[in-house]
Parts: sequence; structure tokens; C-alpha cells
Amino acid sequence: MDIQEIALTRLKPKAFIREQVESIRRTVGDGTAVVALSGGVDSAAVTMLGHLALGPRLTTYFVENGIMRAGEPRAIVSLFKRLGVRVELVDAKAQFFDALAGLTDPEQKREAVTQTFYKTVFGPLVRESGARFLLQGTNYTDVEETVAGIKRQHNVLTQLGIDTEKVYGYQVLEPVIQLRKTGVRVVARALGLPRSIYARPPFPGPALATRIIGEVTPERVEIVRAATKIVESVLSKTRAFQYLAILHGDRVTGIRKGKREFGYQVEVRCWDSTDAVTGRPTRLAWSTLETLARRITTGVPGVVSVTYNIARKPPSTIEAV
Ligand code: XMP
Repeated sequence: MDIQEIALTRLKPKAFIREQVESIRRTVGDGTAVVALSGGVDSAAVTMLGHLALGPRLTTYFVENGIMRAGEPRAIVSLFKRLGVRVELVDAKAQFFDALAGLTDPEQKREAVTQTFYKTVFGPLVRESGARFLLQGTNYTDVEETVAGIKRQHNVLTQLGIDTEKVYGYQVLEPVIQLRKTGVRVVARALGLPRSIYARPPFPGPALATRIIGEVTPERVEIVRAATKIVESVLSKTRAFQYLAILHGDRVTGIRKGKREFGYQVEVRCWDSTDAVTGRPTRLAWSTLETLARRITTGVPGVVSVTYNIARKPPSTIEAV
């Protein structure tokens, strides 16, 4: 891999910000750029770097792909508005669900998200805006896992030999690609982003599609979205690296109000990690696990089974897909 990692011990956030702002200005020249904001810490930091570098010559898009967490699009748009960044909300729900229909293979689902994002949605957006550059928040770990062939992270292109100019009609700029998540958090804080962003647990670009085993449909997204809301509200008090709910593909026999219910299974994962490269399940209190089971089986229609993942990464990975 020809990208040089900047380790946390060597990172000087103020100097890093200065260099990246200058580099974006130099590259974009007197042209314009667009940035893909997802609400995670990586893309939030890149949006602020782009904003500092280009001001009104940067257009910020938030793509509503239909697979986000509850309330996410509106919350992010209004937060950035308070920071002085105007965000355009793009409704692309139909395009993503069309592309995901019928797919069950994890890598095919990831590929569908990538193509819909870069080709179907951003291709026309960038063309119409007249910009030649797309800024995005790829980090060092994303590239490492993709190049190693473990998982194709949705935002890794150039390192896989994809000429984005040729294939999508624009160049991709990745200002935080030399940093791991902890480094990005330090930079995000130095950029003046609020704690709710710089300390936010990681969330994958392909969103809830990485947490559905089997086909991604609007109905199945609703189930995992409701379970995610419960898991996040119960586990946000822990100091865990990341916590999530997964909807399984198989259904199992349950019983409710004395009647058979052939219901869904939700798996909860909660990780201790520093960089997402390796991870250990958090030793949650039994009472917390019971609260999760009770709230998920009563709060998410159709769920009759809740499990907790106890395997480490490796051989597990953090997300299920
Ligand atoms: P895995 O599941 O590979 O995840 O152990 C490692 C970390 O990366 C996040 N993740 C992604 N982030 N695009 C992203 O921006 C992706 O396609 C993607 N897939 C996984 C995951 O949430 C974890 O923090």
C-alpha cells in the first residue's frame, strides 16, 4: 500500500488541518467541488476541511439512501446548518432499494451500494454542478481491509485500480486517508466539531445494509432500524467502541400471548477496540443483556429471539456483511 499512515503519536492536528486545506485549494484551483457528508466523523471532518478550503465553492450533499438510522438525515442537516454549512439533502431511497433488490451475497450488496452511490447518484450530481472533484472521508483502515481482500469498503476506489475520472466523471479527494479513526477524531475536534460528532461511534457507509443478513428490503430495514435505536439508547452509556443490531436471515419459532409466532432473530454486538482492526466483545452486565432482550422483543414487532455475539475479531468482523 503506497499510502503513508500518520500514527496518532506523530499527528499535529493544527498543522494537519493547515496542510490539508492548502492541498484541497491547490488541487481544486479556481474550480468547484462537492463533498459527500454521511454524518460520521470521517466525512464530517472532510466537510469542514473542504468548507475551510473552498467556502461557497463547495457543495455539501447528504444522500438519503433509505438505509440510515432513525432521524439521521434531518439531524445531520440541522447540525451542519448551525456550523454554517448548508447541506443539500438528496432523496435516493428508490435508487438504492432498486439496486439491492434480490441480492443476498454480502460483497454483491456492497458493490450495489458503491455503484449506486458513485454512478447513479453522484455521477449526475457532480456533472450538473460543474465540479470535477468529490471529497470523501476514506480512512486508513478502510483501505487496508479492502486491499487485503477482507471486505470491500464502499468508499475505496483508486486503491483498487478504479480510475474515477474515467468511470464516474470526477476525481476523488480523500484528505483523511492517512489517519485511523482515533486520528480523525482528534482532527475533527480541532476543527471545532461538537462532541456528538467527534466522539461518535463508527457507522459504516453502506449503513444498515451491513446489518441485514440476506435481502435488503424497506420492510427488513425498518426492523433493524428499530432494533438499532434500542441498542444505541441502551449501550450509549458504555464506553464501547461500537455497538449494533443485526437482523438474521432465518426465522425461528416463538410464542407470544399463548400463540405460535414464527419470528425474526436479532443479534446484538458490542465491541471493545481501538482501531477496528481487532475487537473483543464488551463484557456487558447480565442485567444490560436482559434489558436489551426485553426491549427488542417488546419494541420491535415480530422479533422473538435476541442473541449476543461473543466471538472476537478475528475471526468475526465488526459488521455482519
Ligand atoms: P469490519 O466489519 O470490516 O468493520 O470489521 C471495520 C470498521 O469499518 C466499518 N465499516 C465501514 N466503513 N464503509 C465504511 O465507511 C464500509 O463499507 C464499511 N464496512 C465496515 C465498521 O463499522 C467498523 O467500524
